[in-house]
Amino acid sequence: MEPQENEVARQLISQARQDWPIGVREWEDGAKSILSQSAFDWISGGAGEEFTLRANREAFERWRLRPRMLTNTSQRISSIELFGSPSAAPFLLAPIGGQTVAHQNGELAVARAAKATGIPMLISQAASHSMEDIADQCGDAPYWYQLFIVSDREFVFSLIRRAEATGCRAIVVTVDTTIPGWRDRDLRNGYVPFLENEGIRQYTSDPVFRSRLETSPDEDPKVAGAAMMQMFPNPSLTWADLSWLREQTPLPIAVKGILRGEDAERALSAGMDAIIVSNHGGRQLDGVVAALDALPEVRDAVGPHATVLMDGGIRRGTDVLKALALGADAVLLGRPYIYGLAVGGQQGVEHVITTLKAEVDSAFVLTGVSKVGELDRSFVTSL
Ligand code: FNR
Repeated sequence: MEPQENEVARQLISQARQDWPIGVREWEDGAKSILSQSAFDWISGGAGEEFTLRANREAFERWRLRPRMLTNTSQRISSIELFGSPSAAPFLLAPIGGQTVAHQNGELAVARAAKATGIPMLISQAASHSMEDIADQCGDAPYWYQLFIVSDREFVFSLIRRAEATGCRAIVVTVDTTIPGWRDRDLRNGYVPFLENEGIRQYTSDPVFRSRLETSPDEDPKVAGAAMMQMFPNPSLTWADLSWLREQTPLPIAVKGILRGEDAERALSAGMDAIIVSNHGGRQLDGVVAALDALPEVRDAVGPHATVLMDGGIRRGTDVLKALALGADAVLLGRPYIYGLAVGGQQGVEHVITTLKAEVDSAFVLTGVSKVGELDRSFVTSL
């Protein structure tokens, strides 16, 4: 019989490198001790006073689980499937740009870890490797492509065509980043990874983007970074652009960055296939509602059948259960896997993922549930 995840966890801990961290906080400390201040701040920091960054975690502290006893949880299934993408646990890897800031192998290492652990990767438009190279590492494992609708429409169209050609299973369109967030830490450090040839490879590998440059990015990556940053802001974005996107591809589309019920409804009316409740990990508008607190409103607005995901502050298996209880079909794991990447490359990412899977399984047993679908609001209470 396959060992269940909590058994896997015991094995992991007995066999794993003893010098590796266990909980996410320890992984974060490990990453901090390895990375430069600028790199660590860029990954871990948020916008403004970081109210929202903290609120994302505080919301998980405020919501408490109400477990059921004596329910026979000896057979558990925590795997899920979304848009033809099976995942070994009810989470996927959030799109995170510039992963070479954390580790030289960046997205390629994460893609290998995603494949090895059976958890789909969401490839960022701000990746440091091209989607084709990342897709090669994913092999036959499912992955999605995250799109920003930047100001150059022909370039956006080219990205969609490339994503389809690599065989990605869904598009994630991020709508909360029409301009970059106001991030004090990066301003203080004077740190812009895109000007240091990090996070611009989807651009520099694209024929349309290259045609916009007078100097080849191979000769001068700084010029390409500056061009990317010039093309990036698109505050004129409206629902009409989502309707445009809907016409460009038959792939399922998830909208990331929704925090209001009526926006979620409108996205579905525009033909979107899923909502991702997110405040971008507190990196965009500081002071916005915690993602977990926005989730029940969104679920109520779209009804029980729409696909709703959430991210922001997922650190523990119990966090995953709380989000599922409040209406998510699955969640996205963000910064923790990047801390794993910084500390241990591919193996570090695998370790973080495997531990979270095991924590989810352990929390299933102790909460008295055997399947994702059993979790509802009766399993949580707010302080
Ligand atoms: C992000 N995030 C992000 N989102 C997105 O849609 N495209 C992107 O390129 C990025 N890039 C990115 C870089 C870094 C360094 C971080 C930390 C985050 C946001 C990400 O997908 C997710 O919404 C948050 O990471 C969730 O918050 P936590 O759980 O990481 O705190």
